[in-house]
Amino acid sequence: MLDFHRARPEEKREAFADVHAIWPHAADPAVHLVKRLHAVQQSRAEWFVGRSQNGVEVSCGVYPFTLFGKDNVERQVRGFGAVYTHPRGRGHGYAGELIRFVRKHYQEAGVEDFILYSDIDPSFYERLGFHRLPSSAFEFSPKDLAADSPWTLEKTEALVRDPGKLGHDFGLKLSPDDLIWAYAKQDLPLRMTRFQNLKENLSYWTLSSLDAGQYQLLMSNIPQDGENWKLFHELVAADCAKSKGDIARGWRTARSLASEGGTEPQVNDRKDGILMWASQRGEKDPWFPEITKKGFLTFPLFQF
Ligand SMILES: CC(C)(COP(=O)(O)OP(=O)(O)OC[C@H]1O[C@@H](n2cnc3c(N)ncnc32)[C@H](O)[C@@H]1OP(=O)(O)O)[C@@H](O)C(=O)NCCC(=O)NCCS
Repeated sequence: MLDFHRARPEEKREAFADVHAIWPHAADPAVHLVKRLHAVQQSRAEWFVGRSQNGVEVSCGVYPFTLFGKDNVERQVRGFGAVYTHPRGRGHGYAGELIRFVRKHYQEAGVEDFILYSDIDPSFYERLGFHRLPSSAFEFSPKDLAADSPWTLEKTEALVRDPGKLGHDFGLKLSPDDLIWAYAKQDLPLRMTRFQNLKENLSYWTLSSLDAGQYQLLMSNIPQDGENWKLFHELVAADCAKSKGDIARGWRTARSLASEGGTEPQVNDRKDGILMWASQRGEKDPWFPEITKKGFLTFPLFQF
């Protein structure tokens, strides 16, 4: 039986040193430890451990977020990160126990929603009450807009820090501090583009990064559901071409049509990094049908 509690500073160091083999910040374990201890991302989390007399057996970080839903309703949510069991302790149920302990801890403080990205088979988290949310990954070749396209595309610097909720019913509402973290995590120059279709009076935007020819879509308010994939493809491929990228990659918060027998080239359901959500309200949660169908936006949003 482990003792579960908030990590003391020396336990946090032990946990951070342990994950070097799987999530290295540097090849040298000593440099890794210093970097992880000082990373903006890790310092946002509260850390929890389960320990035996041998030391820290299992650990995880827990990140505070605000989830918004329809009608401006907000909920406090906690996101699990870096769930890790020391190899000597695996297969004893430790990770599951730690997750249950942490959920109970926050539930007592009124938090009812929990999220995570699963890098392993999501059935592990499903057994703990989490639901998979739709997400797909795309890979497009760059392609200029057709000569008769109603869209224009223009690079813009107009970044406003206020996260709003443009075009999405559900998503994470991130504070300015969170936005700094999101930028620091990218560690790349970011690029913002505005798209306009004057014929239909429509306007969308993308935020992307470019790394050695690879265009990565970070966030956008272009409709992300499979029915709109042609528009999504047209604008993202044109944005990539304009940025002189060789390939455009990114995720969408929607299931691929291909997974439902439809046609949607170059988009596939994700095999890893699957967003999962658990609500203490269970399947009776009024948000359940829509969140599990459409997912929610996990990047900060911007307004012009
Ligand atoms: C995943 C992990 C945290 C599980 O820790 P644990 O304390 O052994 O977990 P539990 O004892 O509660 O559950 C064990 C179950 O985990 C599941 N599991 C472990 N690794 C898994 C993987 N790569 N994919 C899917 N399921 C996995 C298995 O279903 C296993 O059940 P089994 O023992 O019947 O085979 C641990 O294997 C680990 O630290 N892995 C490396 C870090 C990692 O990948 N973390 C997850 C990030 S999302």
